[in-house]
Amino acid sequence: MKSDDLHALGLDPERLPVHVAVIMDGNGRWAKKRLLNRVKGHEKGSESVRILVKACRELSIPCLTLYAFSTENWARPPSEVSALMQLLKKFLSSERDEMKKNGIRLNVLGQLEKLPEDVQRAARETMDATGSNTQMTLNLALSYGSRQEITDAAKILAGKVKTGELTVDEICDQVISDHLYTAGIPDPDLVIRTSGEFRLSNFLLWQSAYAELFITPTLWPDFTRSEFIDILTHYQKRDRRFGNVECSMPSDGSPQ
Ligand code: IPE
Ligand code: IPE
Ligand code: MG
Repeated sequence: MKSDDLHALGLDPERLPVHVAVIMDGNGRWAKKRLLNRVKGHEKGSESVRILVKACRELSIPCLTLYAFSTENWARPPSEVSALMQLLKKFLSSERDEMKKNGIRLNVLGQLEKLPEDVQRAARETMDATGSNTQMTLNLALSYGSRQEITDAAKILAGKVKTGELTVDEICDQVISDHLYTAGIPDPDLVIRTSGEFRLSNFLLWQSAYAELFITPTLWPDFTRSEFIDILTHYQKRDRRFGNVECSMPSDGSPQ
């Protein structure tokens, strides 16, 4: 999208987030309100996914991470887990061509090997088919849990220290980041959670250290492109200090 078009939407093209991450919550409540089965909420939620992916691509936001299934979600009733897996498989296959056409690369964060074979296959096929795309990266967090991710990284690092590939003193923030599922992906600038819950539910705990958080009461199936743009305008008004003081110096460093 051109600068002028972004300005017309009230957005500053220079201050768009590089990485947006979303905890897509509220599908069950959306269905309950309509006296529908929870699965209907998940189905409607997959339409919101399509809308958001398209919006990020149009706005030239290079990285989007969607929390689609947590390590804790395995505890849900088997019928719901199985419906979610089938929906995932459908999404991974049906969106493949669209992602190819639009230069979107798919990446999976999480324990891919824990997913049913057919879902793994669909994910691998889409990752292979989109692997060379460079316009945008879509990370789907599937069977993802931040604690599991950090535990896995700790084990890999301990193994490297044991074999002498790494020394204890070499372990720093960057080395830890490089051993997470998100290695090579910039930290999220903005984490959005729908459905009004004020928690992270084991999502990107390390990576969100300095992310701006935005909680909306909207249930995920009701999430729209215009609400997303609204959230981006709020994000652009935030003062991100990263532990420093407010910037009061002009760019030449002389006192004001
Ligand atoms: C989010 O919606 C989807 C997943 C966690 C897979 P929920 O299914 O958690 O919906 P609520 O929170 O029960 O409304
Ligand atoms: C978080 O939502 C996980 C996903 C959106 C995939 P949950 O509905 O599982 O989280 P809690 O149980 O409300 O914390
Ligand atoms: Mg929920």
